[in-house]
Amino acid sequence: MPPFSRLARNTVEAPISFLMREALARPELISLAAGFVDQASLPLSETLEAVGQLLNSSAQGRAALQYSSTMGDTAVREALLSRLRVADGRSGEGPSVDQVIMTAGSNELLYQLGLILLDPDDIVLCAAPSYFVFLGALQGMRAHAVGLPVDEDGVLPEALDQMLKKARAEGDAERIKALYLTTYFDNPSSITTSQSRREQIFEIVDRHNHANQHLYIIEDAAYRDLRYFGDDIPSLHSLDRKQTTVIHTSSFSKSYSPGLRVGWGVLPKDLVQPLSNHQGNVNFGAPHFSQQVILQVVQSDAFESHLETLRMTYREKLETMVSAAQKYLGELSEVAWLPAKGGLYIWMQITGVNTAEDGDLFSRAIEKGVLYVPGCHCYPQRGAARQNDRIRLSFGVQSPERIDRGMQLLSEAIRETLSKKECRSVAR
Ligand SMILES: Cc1ncc(COP(=O)(O)O)c(C=O)c1O
Repeated sequence: MPPFSRLARNTVEAPISFLMREALARPELISLAAGFVDQASLPLSETLEAVGQLLNSSAQGRAALQYSSTMGDTAVREALLSRLRVADGRSGEGPSVDQVIMTAGSNELLYQLGLILLDPDDIVLCAAPSYFVFLGALQGMRAHAVGLPVDEDGVLPEALDQMLKKARAEGDAERIKALYLTTYFDNPSSITTSQSRREQIFEIVDRHNHANQHLYIIEDAAYRDLRYFGDDIPSLHSLDRKQTTVIHTSSFSKSYSPGLRVGWGVLPKDLVQPLSNHQGNVNFGAPHFSQQVILQVVQSDAFESHLETLRMTYREKLETMVSAAQKYLGELSEVAWLPAKGGLYIWMQITGVNTAEDGDLFSRAIEKGVLYVPGCHCYPQRGAARQNDRIRLSFGVQSPERIDRGMQLLSEAIRETLSKKECRSVAR
């Protein structure tokens, strides 16, 4: 056996890789699976302008092509912190720029957080369902993700409280290192944690934290800027006045360009040094040129006006997907989906149908020419029960016409699967 580390042996291919390969190999398939962003609205002219401005000044251009500091360029970190403050309606005291870190995408930050917080057998609590790439990363680190039940307002506070009390009673509390939550338009469920839920969750974690035990909340805000309906709400991070508990992670992947790989985060003070040490070993700092491009964009009007365009584009796609679901599937009592006000996904339930790769529906859907993400991949191995009858549908990539067509094909696959099931139960 090759002498690979335990980490390598425990790290498996992401479940969605197969779906990506399938979509690439068969372009005629309508992929409602991939979490890519809309290709046509990627900001070409805005980026050209930003790069031009950077390189027009030889001093600035050369500086951007040089290494930066391990935590990231100070001007970029200041700009992002100040944007976060404004979004959260915060003035006065709050985190300082020293607590801000730039990373190559926010996934890198999540991964590094796992590495500095977790030993094998440690526990991360999370929503069930949750962002499956992070679940895979935890598995590689031999940590355990434990799922908490959710409703339309986010994870259930009573379940969190009970879980922490039980862990304390059983002497396991020290192993629970973090609670991971995508607080805006979760991937895959599109659930946004409501304001009152944020307060309850923070209060519970704060109450359980004491001198010998510290549980961090990782607030993943990757989709915050992609809101198409309703008003923004302050981050969970803004509730952490002492800045000891909430780690806020964010990204320009969904709001600007995933190709630039610009992620960032705000850390509780005691995590700054360990994360900076770690980042120093990984890459001595995130790609500097990309940070400078983002700085140019954020400092001009280009970013906010791009966001406006993006929101219009995705709002139309979301509406197309929901009305297609209504049109083709609305009368089926087995089918239901959660309302989405932003993000890139619709989370659908098809009661009684196994949606996994080994089930009828998945192969029928591929035969018809449409791909979805089987919901089973989005559940942690422990905690709240894995649901096998859910699917994640992404409206980000396809045009409204192809979204409608994809939903029509999916509905045919669902109807055939349901009627075959009925025949089987009648025959029994
Ligand atoms: C919930 C969530 N967090 C983080 C990420 C990571 O994105 P990136 O590394 O491109 O910033 C993604 C990507 O899809 C995501 O869905």
